Amino acid sequence: MSELTENNTIRTANENGSRTVLVFGATGQQGGAVASALLSDGWSVRAFVRNPSAGKAKELASLGASLVAGDLADPLSVRAAMKGVHGVFSIQPSSGQGAAYGITDEQEVRYGKVVADLALAEGVRHLVYTSVAISGEGPTGLGHFDSKLEIEDHVRSLALRSTIVRPATFMELLLLPGMGLDQGAYNFFLLPDQAGQIIAVRDIGKIVAAVFADPERFAGRTIEIASDEVTGKDLGEKLTHAAGRPIEYYRFSDTLLRENAFLGKLASIIDDGRLAANADIAALEQDFGTLTRFGDWLAGPGEPLLRTALDAKDAMVTLR
Ligand SMILES: NC(=O)c1ccc[n+]([C@@H]2O[C@H](COP(=O)([O-])OP(=O)(O)OC[C@H]3O[C@@H](n4cnc5c(N)ncnc54)[C@H](OP(=O)(O)O)[C@@H]3O)[C@@H](O)[C@H]2O)c1
Repeated sequence: MSELTENNTIRTANENGSRTVLVFGATGQQGGAVASALLSDGWSVRAFVRNPSAGKAKELASLGASLVAGDLADPLSVRAAMKGVHGVFSIQPSSGQGAAYGITDEQEVRYGKVVADLALAEGVRHLVYTSVAISGEGPTGLGHFDSKLEIEDHVRSLALRSTIVRPATFMELLLLPGMGLDQGAYNFFLLPDQAGQIIAVRDIGKIVAAVFADPERFAGRTIEIASDEVTGKDLGEKLTHAAGRPIEYYRFSDTLLRENAFLGKLASIIDDGRLAANADIAALEQDFGTLTRFGDWLAGPGEPLLRTALDAKDAMVTLR
């Protein structure tokens, strides 16, 4: 068990240094999935948390993780957290998450570079950075994607053993309330016959844990990761099946995409292929085992999110 010290840092005596990974964002979606997968695979996890007394931090400690208190804005805390670990899972919040963290693209880039620089300085043996699925060369024009390309370039420029994963759109994101499910509709970016890749967050954890387990094989690689590929129509059909009632699929309306510059830009880089995601799912399954199809996710880990979205009285559909 972990124990709180006076400076609010949890003792890490239960860690096995050569099998310890420092996980950033462990109270969040990706970091949480990575922490659980590593713990299941027998790694020691040191979770970097802003508030060790928060409920999610305590949950991590109860699962067996050690907690270190710190903030990405405080490089000294980042450096202290890296002492003696084998690996680092690097993730930063982004401006794309709106007001949740109030972070700018410049801050995201600074945090991502600091984590990589300090991992090198502290002799970390393997850093895994999670980016986003982007194809093609040069900037996309969307700040929270271009920030990740800049961090990727920095990570690759260092004499540090590293792997970059580029996750597709999270299945969890698809079920944010406001997509019209309460009105028997589902609105998203894809055209009815346009294919897009998506990933279950738990698969990010499984893949990253496997990458840490075999650094020789995965070091130096940038890996596009996805669990399934669906068209807009597929989304409507799978949601209809899971909800047990008809769900009509629509692409976000032209009016919405014109009036909301952020959504409009996202739609344009989906349409021009920059955000299409090109993961080879069959090859990923050979390396990492079975990945989660959207229908299975809706009937399993996504079921509570589906129920919430079905009941949400918040309809972007009215903007169609
Ligand atoms: N949604 C998608 O489809 C998608 C796809 C690919 C990539 N992404 C990218 O994924 C990233 C978000 O990942 P996520 O959804 O796993 O995040 P999340 O669930 O929102 O969690 C964010 C985590 O970052 C921590 N955090 C925030 N500010 C911090 C700071 N100053 N210092 C230390 N920790 C801090 C939070 O800790 P607290 O508990 O203290 O708040 C939390 O653990 C973004 O960069 C996004 O652009 C998203």
